[in-house]
Amino acid sequence: MDKIKVGIIGCGVIARSSHGPEYKKLGSKVEIVAACDIVKEKLDSYCEMFDIKKRYSTIAEMLDDDEIQAVDICLHNNMHAPVAIEAMRRGKDVYGEKPMAGSYVDALAMVEAAKKYGRKLHVQLALIYSAASFAAKRLIDAGDLGELYHMRSTGFRRRGRPFVDGYGEKEFVSSKVAGGGALLDMGVYHISQLLYLSGNKRPERVVGHAYQKLDMDPKRKEISGYDVEELIVGMVDFGQGLSMDLIESWAMNLDKLEPSSIIGTAGGIRLDPFSYHYTKHDVVFNASIDEGDLNFRSSTVYPEQNFYRNSQAHWAAALRGECPLLPTAEIALNTQLIQESLYLSSKLGRQVTTDEVIAASKSKNTEVVGLYK
Ligand SMILES: NC(=O)c1ccc[n+]([C@@H]2O[C@H](COP(=O)([O-])OP(=O)(O)OC[C@H]3O[C@@H](n4cnc5c(N)ncnc54)[C@H](O)[C@@H]3O)[C@@H](O)[C@H]2O)c1
Repeated sequence: MDKIKVGIIGCGVIARSSHGPEYKKLGSKVEIVAACDIVKEKLDSYCEMFDIKKRYSTIAEMLDDDEIQAVDICLHNNMHAPVAIEAMRRGKDVYGEKPMAGSYVDALAMVEAAKKYGRKLHVQLALIYSAASFAAKRLIDAGDLGELYHMRSTGFRRRGRPFVDGYGEKEFVSSKVAGGGALLDMGVYHISQLLYLSGNKRPERVVGHAYQKLDMDPKRKEISGYDVEELIVGMVDFGQGLSMDLIESWAMNLDKLEPSSIIGTAGGIRLDPFSYHYTKHDVVFNASIDEGDLNFRSSTVYPEQNFYRNSQAHWAAALRGECPLLPTAEIALNTQLIQESLYLSSKLGRQVTTDEVIAASKSKNTEVVGLYK
């Protein structure tokens, strides 16, 4: 089978540190044939780094290229939706970075566009490919946890706000570009992992509190226009007896938090590191995974498990028809709904229903230079 021809849009940090290297590892299946960036130096250095033959300074020109089957969007959050929708309209399959978009309506428009134009849409949700997710999903689908009733989504950095705490780009801390803070940066991974494991149920009611309390370097605050949350806590009610509490921290005055977890009537799982807890014959057990064995046998006895090794390996396999695409767009959309509900609840100071969140959701799309002809 011919290699899938991919074009990268946005040659910044994540395109360099993750997307480029991962496609290179998948070299027998995928080829990056083109890249696009409005900053010439970034485009040139990226194409040299990954040996890419075609360089585009506008997205519109790149979308004219019939050799490209799929585009990979490595732009900032509020650009994801307009670029994804235009790319699908122009006949390309789309892989996008997380969070899916800046707001729920923007993410919904992406899912609708995928249906309308009959294209594949995939979102980077890294944790659903972890060994912990693999083991947890097997146990849950086999009924070993019994009836699921509560999940805990957690993410912890003690002092790790992008840019103002010393690393990362200033775009991460500007609501105009990123749409939000710790929740949209890290929370998306933890929430989406739990949604994936529990069958992606639609949330019904949400309470959230978003905080920005701790001091930061005043110069970096001014340069970045820092205006997003560093900590968010909340509670999500999915109805049908399933709930989730969450805490996501870029910065807080504690040394650690416990990892995400999911509990049911017959067993419970912590996800990072993985541990499985159950009671049998009135004896309490705690179990862990032998990851070495899991990896060895997935590369020998069960090679099809490599289609789920990571987000890009899965994307490549799905584009080649080797496996069905996981519903990452639908999981990312539900994740976005939870996130937007937490923000609205925090703003209004009360519990919100997701129906009212959907009704109030507004686009956060920003203008994307060079997108349209
Ligand atoms: N940096 C990380 O560690 C990280 C990790 C996971 C996910 N992500 C996600 O990846 C996305 C990108 O983040 P990043 O850190 O790589 O950002 P970045 O600022 O390093 O890269 C964005 C690139 O897009 C280019 N660009 C901007 N407007 C453009 C346009 N109109 N046409 C073409 N190119 C344009 C910029 O010049 C820049 O090179 C974000 O959604 C982020 O949430 C980033």
